[in-house]
Amino acid sequence: MIELIKKKRDGQALNKSEYQELINGFVEGKIPDYQMAAFLMAAYFKGLNPEETANLTDTMMRSGDLIDLSEIEGIKVDKHSTGGVGDKTSLILGPLVAAAGVPVAKMSGRGLGHTGGTLDKMESIKGLSVDMTREEFITQIKKINIAICGQNARLVPADKKLYALRDVTGTVGDVSLISSSIMSKKLACGADAIVIDIKVGEGAFMKNVKDAEELAKMMIQIGKNMNRQVIAVISAMQQPLGRTVGNALEVKEAIQTLKGKGPKDLTDLCLELGSHMLVLGEVAPDFDSAKSKLEELIQSDAAFDKFKELVQAQGGDINMVENMGDLPSTKFLKDYKSPQAGYINKLDAMQIGLASVQLGAGRATKESQIDYGAGIILHKKIGDTIQKGDILATLYANEESFFEKAESFMDKAYQFSDKAPQEQPLIHKTVRYNPSKSKV
Ligand code: URA
Repeated sequence: MIELIKKKRDGQALNKSEYQELINGFVEGKIPDYQMAAFLMAAYFKGLNPEETANLTDTMMRSGDLIDLSEIEGIKVDKHSTGGVGDKTSLILGPLVAAAGVPVAKMSGRGLGHTGGTLDKMESIKGLSVDMTREEFITQIKKINIAICGQNARLVPADKKLYALRDVTGTVGDVSLISSSIMSKKLACGADAIVIDIKVGEGAFMKNVKDAEELAKMMIQIGKNMNRQVIAVISAMQQPLGRTVGNALEVKEAIQTLKGKGPKDLTDLCLELGSHMLVLGEVAPDFDSAKSKLEELIQSDAAFDKFKELVQAQGGDINMVENMGDLPSTKFLKDYKSPQAGYINKLDAMQIGLASVQLGAGRATKESQIDYGAGIILHKKIGDTIQKGDILATLYANEESFFEKAESFMDKAYQFSDKAPQEQPLIHKTVRYNPSKSKV
């Protein structure tokens, strides 16, 4: 191990068998945290070349169970988001692309810190279970073309251990380490093709488009090395997506979007990501026809019907979905008002995420209990004009004492100006492999 640390410290590349020694030794407990921490820091400063990143990803992927989805007919296209606030796209995209004919075998995670997780959002529907055996998962997909379950504990154990160490050693933010972490999990889940939504902005890992592009290229290259098509969409996360943050509130907004009545940014992003998924899944010949197909599925209610089918198949209370008033709510609500007139020129997604955790919607630690009804509805977003005293947001909590703490984050989230802020694009860029040029 000392030789491997020194090799990386001196900027040399490790070969495949060295990565196997490193990762397998770490997972088996033969390599202590302090040596792996030293290696990670050397990797952070010296970087990994694309071949090393592919070898690291492959070794991590093989560190636990590999899900075999070959029994399910069709191209399994997965979607991954690098994490955002108010990002409920999986709840919408899953049923939407499943209704279009792409099999959706989704393994999702829980929320931690300022970002939420798909599983928690799903579980705000009474009775719904995300625990399934492999057989139940496959059978459900064969029957209704979609299942959403929790990630198996034996899936990429190398990432669980490595991520925990990266988190406390200041080594999360490296492009190769992020790429191998994400791609090893997606590939272990059996995806044939992957659409990655890379978030850029205050609330995201990637603070600028240039870094996001570098991450996109690395993930596409890993996919290429492993014979998987990957398309990366670089999208804005300078403010939360849509108007809701919090589990049941986000489910409501997802349902509205599936019915064609969702906010524009959320709808546009779902149509963008979904269209790429349809093309990769070979159920549409090109992006434009894929988009028209998705719009049609929303208008005809086929997408919402698929959502109801999903909820029912996983034991969820269908009345809650049909009559959204039955979804968990809170005892108290409080309006958050504007301290001044003008334009909103900043709405920091990270601060809004932290405010929602204070209200009970998120987890401060892995063991924290979630309050499904808690959260925030944003009535005003960047670019809106406001008068002093206008309601900017409504906060939902089951303890009145939570409001004060949450408000201190809300105060930091909003900034105002006299002039209208410059409009930012929702989609910055789409990055993909170009076979005719043999490059990304
Ligand atoms: N998401 C992951 O799964 N891993 C990372 O390293 C960063 C974001």
